[in-house]
Amino acid sequence: MQKIGIGLAGFGTVGAGVFLNLQRNRLLLAGRIGMELSVQKIVVRDPAKVRAITLPPELLAKSWRELIDDPDIQIICELMGGIDDPLELILAAIQAGKIVVTGNKALLAEHGREIFAAAMKYRVPVFFEAAAAGGVPIIMAIREAFIANHIRSMHGIINGTCNYILTQMTERGIGFQEALAEAQASGYAEADPTLDINGWDAAHKAIILASLAYGFWVGTEQIFVEGIEQITADDIRFARELGYRIKLLAIIKGDESSGIEVRVHPALIPATHVLASVHGVFNAVAVQGDVVGETLFYGRGAGQDPTASAVISDLASAALAIQAPRSHFGFTPHALYGRCKTIDEIVSQYYLRIPVLDKPGVLAQVAGVLGALNIGISSVIQPEGTEGEAVPLVLMIHDATNAQMQAALREIRALAAVKAEPRLIRVESFSS
Ligand code: NAP
Ligand code: HSE
Repeated sequence: MQKIGIGLAGFGTVGAGVFLNLQRNRLLLAGRIGMELSVQKIVVRDPAKVRAITLPPELLAKSWRELIDDPDIQIICELMGGIDDPLELILAAIQAGKIVVTGNKALLAEHGREIFAAAMKYRVPVFFEAAAAGGVPIIMAIREAFIANHIRSMHGIINGTCNYILTQMTERGIGFQEALAEAQASGYAEADPTLDINGWDAAHKAIILASLAYGFWVGTEQIFVEGIEQITADDIRFARELGYRIKLLAIIKGDESSGIEVRVHPALIPATHVLASVHGVFNAVAVQGDVVGETLFYGRGAGQDPTASAVISDLASAALAIQAPRSHFGFTPHALYGRCKTIDEIVSQYYLRIPVLDKPGVLAQVAGVLGALNIGISSVIQPEGTEGEAVPLVLMIHDATNAQMQAALREIRALAAVKAEPRLIRVESFSS
């Protein structure tokens, strides 16, 4: 049986999972693809590190260059994370004609254009199923299964760490830090969890999904990103009372005539919507295509085994591409869509919580500001307080642009009765 050599760069949560599962399901994989997937060399940052999963010493390489130079290695599997070293490794692998498999969404989001230009130039495929939604095969779906479709929208819960934190805060009432520590201990969070909670890990995935769907590599500067750091237990409670749940949502929408929108931010979604039932580390992406209609993908978006499943699927595709060379190298640009809308143009509904003094006339002042800017209120709640003390005034706002809402916020902040920074959270109604 033909042996396909793999150079594994990284033996952390994902890399070690790939190594273990390649061994565990060796016979099944060989039976399915007719080839043996064999790890020839492994590179890590700190060879002396004590590891939960044993790294066979005979496979240890001194640097990633050994992987490129080894003639028995045909596939480079990059699972190191970070930007500079992986970029150098991947470009060197492509130039050396070695197929690349990576789960590095940060790298692809920032350097996808350059990497896929090199892939096309040298006719070397780059596979990256693990770079969005972990074990959920969304990349393959967008690139292959939905090739006949204009993608009208994608709504995704695509950061397991944030979904885990928001779920624990909602269901167990625990604090943000405690929930984050649990997500880190489970191997869901990035090495630097700031990227999870500030929304940028989900944004990297959204960039990849939007780029595949709309045929141009979306720049990090073209999208709107907001994290979950400011979400409070009060917001979660008020959202519930109003019939919503709060999720970190990636919203990607496309239209050939007016451009596309790519944004990641916390959103109130109706408690009855299917995405409201996506709990814990689970991810889900609802995709609407003009031909297929509505579809839904669901599964574990992070962690050792689910991510290894995606990476090994890519390794199998890479091995098959060695047998039968492909003319698709991972991403093919086209010019049917061309522009990302700015956040100021984007229309949404909103939840607005304003800490105000509980005294007559305050609601009228706030409503006056909104009305003057042509912004409609759909409902109001204000828990009873003691007159003269600060209470939260919660308003649900009809469709308005971000520009309108920012203008309103500037005026609301200046009102004497407003005692602290108002909190604006977008509401997604999934209308189009
Ligand atoms: P990790 O646990 O931090 O592991 C990183 C591995 O890469 C470690 O073995 C580390 O060596 C090695 N490494 C880092 N820099 C290196 C360098 N310059 N040269 C050689 N080796 C280096 O990370 P991970 O969670 O496995 O994630 C790996 C990649 O998969 C990232 O791009 C991540 O975004 C992506 N991803 C992760 C998940 C997940 O659930 N964790 C899901 C999807 C995608 P040491 O072991 O010696 O430190
Ligand atoms: N830190 C990421 C998450 C890992 O929590 O979703 C999977 O990409």
